[in-house]
Parts: sequence; structure tokens; C-alpha cells
Amino acid sequence: MSTPPVRNPLPRYPTGWFAVAFSRDVAPGELRALHYFGRELVLYRGQSGRAVLMDAYCPHLGAHMGHGGTIEGDEIRCPFHHWRFGPDGACTAIPWADRPMKVDVGTFPVVERNGVICTWHDAAGGPPSWQPATHKLPAGPAIGAHFFMDDVVVHAQEVMENNTDFRHLESVHSFGPWSHESLEADGATLRLRGHGSAGDLTYSGETTLHGPGYLEGVSRIGPAPFSVQLLLYVTPVDDRLCHVRCTYDVLPDPGVPLDPAMAGQIAEQGCRETERQFHLDRLIWAHKMYVERPPLSTVDGPIRQFRAWYSQFYPAAAG
Ligand code: FES
Ligand SMILES: [Fe+2]
Repeated sequence: MSTPPVRNPLPRYPTGWFAVAFSRDVAPGELRALHYFGRELVLYRGQSGRAVLMDAYCPHLGAHMGHGGTIEGDEIRCPFHHWRFGPDGACTAIPWADRPMKVDVGTFPVVERNGVICTWHDAAGGPPSWQPATHKLPAGPAIGAHFFMDDVVVHAQEVMENNTDFRHLESVHSFGPWSHESLEADGATLRLRGHGSAGDLTYSGETTLHGPGYLEGVSRIGPAPFSVQLLLYVTPVDDRLCHVRCTYDVLPDPGVPLDPAMAGQIAEQGCRETERQFHLDRLIWAHKMYVERPPLSTVDGPIRQFRAWYSQFYPAAAG
């Protein structure tokens, strides 16, 4: 009897920047219980506006601070015995005791930009080795059209790999043929350029993968005087699931007036279509297995080059 294949033997948690929330989802003084990278976490925003991500379990007697904890200034107060911890995780106060103890909650680096709160995840606890890029955003609300997909059965690598699987654009997404122009790997960045069509529309696009967990796609559609920018984030939850977040914006060309309401409408439509397309990918991801040495044909995209680049983010590659 043969052993059934492991559906995906790759380590679940690559090292890099990953989204943990949209900025708008955590107001000053609020906290959220989160589960990412197979661990319990608490995300809060102090009264100063600073976002903090830490281990959820209180080092005192183990209460989960994401359930009943409160924010005081930029500190979090545990619901059990009201010990307080600062944004650096250090205990700052113990009620009825004259001084705090030297104990810490583990904290994680946080960067907030483009309407998304990201954290650096390294299973070995190492510091960030690169910083996430800041992207252009139109004036107006901090975040335009966006979607969130809960509990997607997939490995983070496969979400990113889709961008180099050109043929699935035709078979799964019903786009016209895609012509690949270039692929450049530079450290934690991988940039792809090409052009294609969808129905009567022609478009050209540049997709930049920033590490293992997020990408930026900028496209121009026909002669339209604007670009569309999509930022896509995938974050591993546990051994089976990931969360996917996407923001979608219309960026008018310099000097071209574009009615903000119209730009918002175009972005909203584009975002809803992208979300619909993601549901098609999701069906494939939920049931597929990972083929380690695929028999790639001459018309397949640069999947091998992508995998060689992505492998740098696995813990074994770092050590
Ligand atoms: S368990 Fe948190 S203060 Fe006691
Ligand atoms: Fe896809």
C-alpha cells in the first residue's frame, strides 16, 4: 500500500512581512484577538495611534489578553489581575504591589502603511532584514476598495505562485493570452512585466512581489488615463488556512483630472471583479496538492524561477 502524498510539504510560515489587519479595523483604544502563524496574538492601538502586536497570553497566570483586556494610554491591561504591559511588552504596573516585576510579553515588529498593519514574522525571532515598500495612494480615504477572504485553504507560496502561472489566467480566469516580457529577482523583490487582454480590453501590467506575503500589481488598461494598483496580502493562519486581503485603487496620471467619485467607482468595480476571480482560485487551492517537480511545458510561466526565489524565505534557507 503506498503512502498518500503530503498535500504540501513546505514549511507553513516563511520569514517576511505579513498583513494582520486593515488599519481601519482597529481604532485608538481598541484591541483584537488574532490567530496567525499558529499562535494566539493580540493587536491593539494605543491612544496615541500606535499599533502594537504581542503574544496574547499574559506571562503572569496565562489569561488571554485579547478577551477582556483593556487599553490605557499606549499600554494593555490584562483582564485577570490587571497587570499592565507597555508597547515593548515590559510589565509596567502590578495593582497592590509597589513596583512591576521584570517580566515581558513577546512583541512583534509592526509597520503600518497603505491602510494595512503588517508584522515581521520570523519563527526564529530574528529582526526584519528589509523594510516593506510604501506605495502610492490617491488622496482621500486611507483605504479605497478592498476585500478580505477568511479561512482560505492554501499555502502562502501558492497564492504568490499564481502570478507566474500565466496559463491559469486563461483557463481559470478566462483572460486572453498573456505575453510575458521580463522577470527580475532582486533580494526580497521579484518583478514581472507583461501584457495581455481580457475581452475587448488590452492591458499591461507590472507585478512586484515583496517577500513571501504581499505583492503590488500596477496595470494600465487600454488608453485610460490612469493606472490601477492592487496590493495583495496573504497571511498564514495555521497548518491549513491563510487570510487574504486586497486593496484596490485608481491612480490618475499626473495632470489628468479624474473625478474622485468616478475613480472610486472604477476601483470598486475592479475590486469586486478581482474578488470574484479569487473565488475561482480558491476552489482550486482548497483541493490541490503541491507538485514538487512539476513537468512544466514550454508554454508554462516562470514557475521554477519563482520557486527558487521564494525558497529564500523558508527558515532552513536562513539558517
Ligand atoms: S494573568 Fe494577567 S494579570 Fe494575572
Ligand atoms: Fe488566479
